[in-house]
Amino acid sequence: MTKLPPGPPDLPLLGNYLDFRGDPLAAMQIWQRRYGDLLRFRLGLRRFHLVSHPQLAEAVLLGGQDRYLKTYEPDRPDGIALVLGQGLVTSRGQLWQRQRRLIQPFFARSRMADYQGEILAAGMALCRCWQGLPPGGAVDVSAAMMRTTLEVITRTMFHTSVLDRFDQFAASLQTVLRYAAAAHRGPLRPPRWLPTPRRRAFLRAMGFLDDFVYGLIRERRAAGSPTSDLLDQLLAARDDEGRLMDERQIRDEILTVFSAGHETTAVTLSWVWQLLARHPEAQERLHREVAEILDEGAPSVADLSKLTWARAVLEETLRLYPPAVVLQRKTAAAERLAGFDLPAGARVLINLFNIQRHPELWPEPEDFRPERFLPGAEPPRHRLAFMPFGAGPRVCVGSSFAMTEALLLMAVISRRFRFAPLPGIGAEPEIEVTLRPKGGLRLAVSARSSVP
Ligand code: HEM
Repeated sequence: MTKLPPGPPDLPLLGNYLDFRGDPLAAMQIWQRRYGDLLRFRLGLRRFHLVSHPQLAEAVLLGGQDRYLKTYEPDRPDGIALVLGQGLVTSRGQLWQRQRRLIQPFFARSRMADYQGEILAAGMALCRCWQGLPPGGAVDVSAAMMRTTLEVITRTMFHTSVLDRFDQFAASLQTVLRYAAAAHRGPLRPPRWLPTPRRRAFLRAMGFLDDFVYGLIRERRAAGSPTSDLLDQLLAARDDEGRLMDERQIRDEILTVFSAGHETTAVTLSWVWQLLARHPEAQERLHREVAEILDEGAPSVADLSKLTWARAVLEETLRLYPPAVVLQRKTAAAERLAGFDLPAGARVLINLFNIQRHPELWPEPEDFRPERFLPGAEPPRHRLAFMPFGAGPRVCVGSSFAMTEALLLMAVISRRFRFAPLPGIGAEPEIEVTLRPKGGLRLAVSARSSVP
């Protein structure tokens, strides 16, 4: 007999949308506490299966890509595939395998030293900009982090810059990704052919991004002087039959690297500064560690293994606020998970926020305690209890890049600046494609005594 997972009672047509809509993160956490680590809920006519335990996440993510599929259909794009097409995040099967083999080497740990110069340059540009501020001045820290990480990914992977049109570029990316995420979630979706204001804004922003990316491809082809970056690799790659990659596929990969490769790191850094502002003792410890280890010099990739407190702060931040908060899969055929039955085509959501704050796996799960990640601390009780970069074959391709970039920027910035909360301004997390501080993050920033 079929045994279905439990879940909250739902309304006809709307399902659980009313509870979910205002604060999806809180709704999913409350449901987990009430109904357990595998539960069902419904948004409109779409049913979802929510996974909140690492053991179940392991069964899904390492159980075989042919059993638990990425959800995007090439001929019926939905969610972020509306924007990213069939890039590395969304593609499946042989296409994914080929592209992963091609792109992965650019993000290998051994390549990180090649990128440190660009990361430090972007960090120093930000410091110079902040140096002129009045002490304790209010700063939109999340916008500054976005600008810095976008510059890093653009310079390292494509040898170009978007700083001269940053506002339009960032706003366009936000518009298209928000539209795609909402299109995926809402219960009553207007048909795509209806020219609603949101649809028109989406098409305008998509047009700008496409023009930019296709322009980048054209310029590089015309320049004819290879720089051996990721863009050159995409332009030169040939498949098993010796064919060049088509332009649409190159566009999908470029846009994927742009969007997957900067916002996640930017929101991570925003949460780092937000947590340190609220925990001054942790912030001073970071400052001391960086000053002692780096002395007067600039940080390098070789120093990073010595920055144990910095890494612990970063990992604890990623535990509390995993930027890619929900991983989605779909069952290819009927499955049994945790003793419950899932039909073929069931949508499975792996909730990293719930897993990484699971009360059975983490003591005082809601507290910021970087000590848990220091060398010698007791390891988490399951190997996937901490998995901000996912797990299995679809694990994040950019995890070394993100950790290196975040640690180098933390070292450069914490050396020179101190952060404090602004009275009356908090930072609640919200799911807006990534897990961001709601409405951005403003903090009081003060320069420390001058550091070269
Ligand atoms: C703190 C920063 C980052 C976090 C937390 C993060 C998180 C993740 C997670 C959880 C996944 C797995 C998604 C799934 O299983 O459905 C993923 C995949 C991916 N990430 Fe990241 N990411 C970060 C930074 C980056 C960077 C810097 C890049 C650089 C381009 C990147 C590119 C990708 C790509 C291309 C995939 C898809 C890999 C595949 O399916 O083969 N990410 N990321």
